Amino acid sequence: MPDIRICGNVAELNHRVAEATAGAIVGAVRRRGRCSVVLSGGNTPRALYTHLASQYREQIPWADVHMFWGDERYVPASDPDSNYRMALDTLLAHVPCPDDHVHPMPVSTTPADAAASEYERTIRSHFPGEECDFDLVFLGLGEDGHTASLFPGSPAVTETRRWVTAVQVAAKPPVRLTMTLPRLTRAANIFVLAVGAKKAQALHDVVRDDADPRALPAAGLFSSKGTLTWWVDEEAAARLTD
Ligand code: 6PG
Repeated sequence: MPDIRICGNVAELNHRVAEATAGAIVGAVRRRGRCSVVLSGGNTPRALYTHLASQYREQIPWADVHMFWGDERYVPASDPDSNYRMALDTLLAHVPCPDDHVHPMPVSTTPADAAASEYERTIRSHFPGEECDFDLVFLGLGEDGHTASLFPGSPAVTETRRWVTAVQVAAKPPVRLTMTLPRLTRAANIFVLAVGAKKAQALHDVVRDDADPRALPAAGLFSSKGTLTWWVDEEAAARLTD
């Protein structure tokens, strides 16, 4: 049975996710001496990141946190579409996470395929001789059932060898870098955030037992090794009882 946490509104969702985030980070630091987090992009996490920056500056040991990205638009960091820029503006510029703990995807490396390989090397070097498992992964859900930049019908969805791959997508910007499901699903904890009525059909379809990840990539998260928690508001949850 999927672990779906339905929150009354976005403010409640952000508070509950922030509490769970603090708990996951403190637990990872206690166990491993640090916490390796994968941030998601898009709009939904903006308010969460802002809430973490303003209300959890003291409760979270930011100096022991390393930040990665699950996907990135292949645009300069200064571009308004950059997921790195969004996280910098809402969170990283406001908490004492050391600069050398922030690992953005290398969007200045060309071509995009080389950037993907470079990021895989960055991940491997971050976990020398240990399981390359992130402690906490944030993801979103697209209206078409995509997550990260794993879109329906994309060969990236069934990629099993590469940890990071470059993809061409119909959405703007068209070129993305994305972690693949085998990498994402090794995480100890995955938090998927889905807010608003526009996500209701996708959430309904993705959590069905017969959901095919090739058509609904977020369904691929159910092969996760660790915990998988769907944090949703009532509007996004509206079709779950259909
Ligand atoms: C991105 C995200 C993407 C996002 C979903 C939901 O780079 O855009 O990684 O997977 O999480 O598209 O986006 P919203 O939160 O904007 O609805």
